[in-house]
Amino acid sequence: MKIITDLQEMYKHSICLKKTHKISFIPTMGALHNGHLSLIEKAYYNNKNSKIIVSIFANPSQFTNFEDFAKYPDTIDSDIKKLKEFEISKNIQIDCVFIPEKNNDFYSNKKYPQLQKFNINKSEIILPQFFSESEGKTRKGHFEGVFQVLFRLFYIISPDYSVFGQKDFQQTLLVQYLQKQYFPHLEIIIADICREKSGLAMSSRNKRLSAENKNKAKILYQALQTKKIETIRTILESEKLIEKIHYIEIRNTTTFELMDKKVMNEVSVILLSVQFAGIHLIDNILI
Ligand code: PAJ
Repeated sequence: MKIITDLQEMYKHSICLKKTHKISFIPTMGALHNGHLSLIEKAYYNNKNSKIIVSIFANPSQFTNFEDFAKYPDTIDSDIKKLKEFEISKNIQIDCVFIPEKNNDFYSNKKYPQLQKFNINKSEIILPQFFSESEGKTRKGHFEGVFQVLFRLFYIISPDYSVFGQKDFQQTLLVQYLQKQYFPHLEIIIADICREKSGLAMSSRNKRLSAENKNKAKILYQALQTKKIETIRTILESEKLIEKIHYIEIRNTTTFELMDKKVMNEVSVILLSVQFAGIHLIDNILI
């Protein structure tokens, strides 16, 4: 497992790999947990001969609040350790981990003049209206930031496959939108949500919860499992650690249109987003 920190080097390495292999790419922001590892496993079983590239980069442009960015767990050494242990325990080889340095160099045209064409300004990104709803409403500019970073990463790495988690449901729609616009040959793969035994969806942000609060956070999934908006709201309102319910919504899984709560059909998803003990948590369940 190689570790690459320089963008130009990553670009050259991918070009080299592409001559003989397909590339499977799993982008992450680090603070790795089993949910992230499940994406790598999914990539492997999708195409065992492909070269697996994992990136770890807490992209500043997708955080709408500097405090949230500053508090995002930075656990690079234990992340690398986890990836190495994963390789051994699953007998799955990761070709390389791409870890751009944690400063503004990532988008710098001065430092990477040859990669300038793979940059898009956040202000140039005009997304369909529904990316300003739900998570896009709670975190203004978030999806433009995700679009910006994936645009650059996909051009630099040029993957054949890229795996994303259903945990970030609206993000999976964004990735599919980006793919259709710019990367017609890329195949997007969506992986199921990995949960703790308690049912809590795994998330890097859970690391900021005390053991006691983490246990209490299982209420999110318990509520979702009722699959009834009013009941979900009543359950969540009963938990004092929930400081704010940003939204509980039923949406069409493809068009992301809001669905009438009475029309429950097979193509909908219930999404929720809350502020729990000072931490932003999201989860969803398909109906
Ligand atoms: P991050 O939150 O680190 O998540 C990286 C990938 O892991 C995403 O595809 C996410 O949906 C998936 N993931 C997170 N928790 C999961 C869980 N419990 N089960 C299954 N998959 C899970 O999402 C991002 O980073 C960033 O926005 C990124 C795409 C890397 C762009 O910066």
